[in-house]
Amino acid sequence: MRRPILAANWKLHKTRAQARAFVDSFLPLVKDADSVDVVIAPVFTALDAVGQALEGSRVALAAQNVSAEPSGAFTGEVAVNMLVDVGCRYTIVGHSERRTLYGETDDGVAAKAAALLAADVHPIVCVGETLEEREANRTLDVLKTQLEGSLAGLPDDRAAEIVIAYEPVWAIGTGKTATPEIAQEAHAFIRERLRERFGAGGDAMRIQYGGSVKPDNVTVLMAQPDIDGALVGGASLDPEAFSQIVHFERARA
Ligand code: PGA
Repeated sequence: MRRPILAANWKLHKTRAQARAFVDSFLPLVKDADSVDVVIAPVFTALDAVGQALEGSRVALAAQNVSAEPSGAFTGEVAVNMLVDVGCRYTIVGHSERRTLYGETDDGVAAKAAALLAADVHPIVCVGETLEEREANRTLDVLKTQLEGSLAGLPDDRAAEIVIAYEPVWAIGTGKTATPEIAQEAHAFIRERLRERFGAGGDAMRIQYGGSVKPDNVTVLMAQPDIDGALVGGASLDPEAFSQIVHFERARA
């Protein structure tokens, strides 16, 4: 059984004080959520404060990006050991905003994921097609290429530690969620590719859906066989809304 994983991607939002205020409201709301993994990814400057506020809770800290380099003349970058130093257990790599706005490539994503695994930090590797690619019927080709490139060279025996986030670019921040059927079709395709790449390990890997996940659509998405979690942007900025997403099973009961 794959343990559900619900992750907040705060993107470029929240100062330290705002982040701490979120955690103060959020933790009591999720204190009995013991059958899922919960992850929060603040901006770099709030990592330390959020990490301290999360201490003793089951909620894990994540970064939104990392350098593949361990140290050196790389102005503006942050290395894996620095993320470990502030308590990060996960890191998002290859988010579509990084790919489109900052030119990140599959090779670069694979190098970052390898550096994270070497330090026992779980990479959350993002893939997803644009609207143009979907309309040109290229979705599955794009996913295949991104997966092959972004997972290249990663050790086979570490598969279960890697999280994949399928985020159709046309659904991110647009209010347009993929229907559960469309999402499941992509997730099932990704699962097959993971099995090809990692063998049985591919079955243990968690695949999150991302793109306008909200309290009122998370339950049907999570009911799909190959959707094991959610990577949540907008709705994760509000403690009440993100706690409802963490408690997606309540709506099902
Ligand atoms: P959204 O963002 O939930 O605001 O669509 C998701 C993401 O980009 O990770």
